[in-house]
Amino acid sequence: MKRVFSGVQPSGSLTIGNYLGALRHFTRLQYEADCYFCVVDLHALTVPQDPEELYQNTLNTARLFVACGVDPKQATIFVQSHVPAHTTLSWLMECNTYYGELRRMTQFKDKAAKHDVVTAGLFTYPALMAADILLYQTDEVPVGEDQRQHLELTRDIAMRMNNRFGPLFKVPEPYIAPKTAGGRIMSLQNPAEKMSKSSDDPRSYIALLDPPDVVRKKIRSAVTDSGREIRYDPEEKPALSNLLVIYSLATGESIDSLEERYRNSGYGQFKADLAEAVVELLAPIQERFRELSEPGVIENILAEGADRAERVAAETLARVQAAMGLVPRHAAAVSSSRQETRAPSSIT
Ligand code: AMP
Ligand code: TRP
Repeated sequence: MKRVFSGVQPSGSLTIGNYLGALRHFTRLQYEADCYFCVVDLHALTVPQDPEELYQNTLNTARLFVACGVDPKQATIFVQSHVPAHTTLSWLMECNTYYGELRRMTQFKDKAAKHDVVTAGLFTYPALMAADILLYQTDEVPVGEDQRQHLELTRDIAMRMNNRFGPLFKVPEPYIAPKTAGGRIMSLQNPAEKMSKSSDDPRSYIALLDPPDVVRKKIRSAVTDSGREIRYDPEEKPALSNLLVIYSLATGESIDSLEERYRNSGYGQFKADLAEAVVELLAPIQERFRELSEPGVIENILAEGADRAERVAAETLARVQAAMGLVPRHAAAVSSSRQETRAPSSIT
């Protein structure tokens, strides 16, 4: 069976960008593949986090996985820091990743420009991401377009280590929806930027937990382009095209059909209807989220998930450590032939 892995940072409340670009695909893939969906709390730490907020966001992100339709019986849902193999393998990845490769990452450049302090963790972030994916011998990684470069680096690291140390890792494929299918949902305030939960301006995104009135207000105040025509044209009408993509994905109606339906309407009517479509999309998610907020429910799901994930991760980690020449802690339990062939003759 195909293996799927993806991660989401608990760095704020998830947005419809996260849902349309990634989570929506998780719910479908869980019936076709052996899926691992991870709340990557250690990645969130690469920029400053308030500890109390990080704690709540981690639990809420996991709750939203389930509220959006990921079934903990079908898929393994867990928290990255609960499986220490991620950080252990990450170090081994860092030692096989080049400074120049990390320096070229556009996400690093963007985030470094936004923060006064740039941590070493922000720089080596892609090595930890590669560890996340490669630990599970992943075939496919469903993500938004913004993660393409990180996945290419993951593939390069996997191939490099396979060449150097023997076949250790599956080389994973990205699974990225085209822009018209939610691969890159843009900010409601600036259609040149992606919608991001860590933005300082909450009007730029719709959070999955925004109440209906907030959703309506944010869509009403979304920027639009000049002219009155409702037409999909990302070059000439980037803001409206983004709204059309959201509308189409929220309702399942094609962009062509929406253009036709709003041929004689202005932006006002279009936005009012879009707001209702988004409110309807979010209502069942918010309802399930409330049910999952009972104490202990998500904690139990995560504990079971970590156990399942750990078993798979431990196997890969042990193979990598052995292949790289690290002596296992219980060396006596390991085949003596390897120790004999490796030990220099002067000390035997
Ligand atoms: P993050 O919130 O950065 O951890 O992203 C979690 C997942 O959502 C990743 O697969 C991202 O690529 C995806 N994602 C985040 N923002 C967007 C967006 N604006 N449009 C489409 N996908 C997104
Ligand atoms: N870097 C990803 C993001 O910001 C999150 C992530 C971490 C991830 N590890 C991953 C995504 C492994 C897919 C697979 O969206």
